[in-house]
Amino acid sequence: MSVIKAQNYNILIDEEKALFASFIDRLKPSSIFVIVDENTELYCLPQLKTYLKIPFSSIRISSGEHYKNLKTSTQIWNALISNGADRKSLIINLGGGVIGDMGGFVASTFMRGIRFIQVPTTLLSQVDASVGGKLGIDFLAYKNMIGVFNDPEMVWINSSFLGTLPDRELNSGLAEIYKHALIHSKNHWDYLSALDEELKSWPFTEIIERSVNIKNEIVIQDPIEQGLRKILNFGHTIGHAVETYFLDTENALLHGEAVFVGMICEAYISYTKSMISRDELENIQKVLSTRIQKRPSLLGISGELLAHMKKDKKNTNQKLMLSLLNGIGSSAFDIECHPNEIEDAFRFFDN
Ligand SMILES: NC(=O)c1ccc[n+]([C@@H]2O[C@H](COP(=O)([O-])OP(=O)(O)OC[C@H]3O[C@@H](n4cnc5c(N)ncnc54)[C@H](O)[C@@H]3O)[C@@H](O)[C@H]2O)c1
Ligand SMILES: [Zn+2]
Repeated sequence: MSVIKAQNYNILIDEEKALFASFIDRLKPSSIFVIVDENTELYCLPQLKTYLKIPFSSIRISSGEHYKNLKTSTQIWNALISNGADRKSLIINLGGGVIGDMGGFVASTFMRGIRFIQVPTTLLSQVDASVGGKLGIDFLAYKNMIGVFNDPEMVWINSSFLGTLPDRELNSGLAEIYKHALIHSKNHWDYLSALDEELKSWPFTEIIERSVNIKNEIVIQDPIEQGLRKILNFGHTIGHAVETYFLDTENALLHGEAVFVGMICEAYISYTKSMISRDELENIQKVLSTRIQKRPSLLGISGELLAHMKKDKKNTNQKLMLSLLNGIGSSAFDIECHPNEIEDAFRFFDN
């Protein structure tokens, strides 16, 4: 149980349920709208109802990244208008990163901005998406292309929501937890590495707390990603290319699954640049490999992956710029990488 101070709001982790209702009381909203999808309506809303003791309306959208767009946002704005929302209304985003990002964006733009609370219900959204103020939707073929930076009134994390999350989603969320450790805390990496492989025995309250602390510490130093915050992209340049390549195929990977692949490749590039030792590389590869259930083969598709990476927003002057490790628990950003170095990493991954 803990309260973590973010820039202008608090992140509460497994705190007393009564705090939720008293916080809402203090906000004195004119009305409350809870945004859910079919899964969080079924699995999470009944629990929220037990501690949100005042009347509210729910707005249900379809689950999945496919619906994180302007059409669904319009649906939510419409529902707000037809149910009489005003500038004192409060939105509660009850769901994974899709609901958090889109619900936060909708709230931030409705009547020039109304208040919202993030109640993340996936592991990924608890340790990553709900922290840091990035909100938005996908547009045309571009991920998170339209959006804003804005803070919620509070982030309410409850690890008991994870009980109904499919195993594959839980495993995918672990990628960001390992990433936070690798880029910022050797202590956390050693702690995670010593845990039993079986996730059921993991103390999630403590793990989430450590991970949120790391992300929050980085975001506070660089809220709008002008420098340091880029280290959070470790594993993501190659990870995003892999995720995009397999999207809409029968081998589609969840975001975290692709990030596991990206982190192994980018750790190898860190090694070839003498930023980590062979022992560190082998340690990282061993721990992360146990979490990869479907192993893609990369070398045969290196042309397509590199083409995708060249479109990355983080590049400058057409050069591939990556965030890499500088030892376990430390990292560096804006490191230029040659396509040959990246192909070598694909070769290492495939072997
Ligand atoms: N804003 C940020 O800084 C940031 C950071 C990382 C990721 N993201 C965004 O987050 C999104 C991915 O988030 P996600 O992985 O949470 O995916 P998601 O929101 O699609 O949720 C995954 C699935 O789990 C279901 N679900 C959610 N909670 C559940 C529960 N407790 N029990 C059973 N099922 C449940 C959902 O209905 C969905 O089907 C992406 O759009 C990504 O861009 C944002
Ligand atoms: Zn990620």
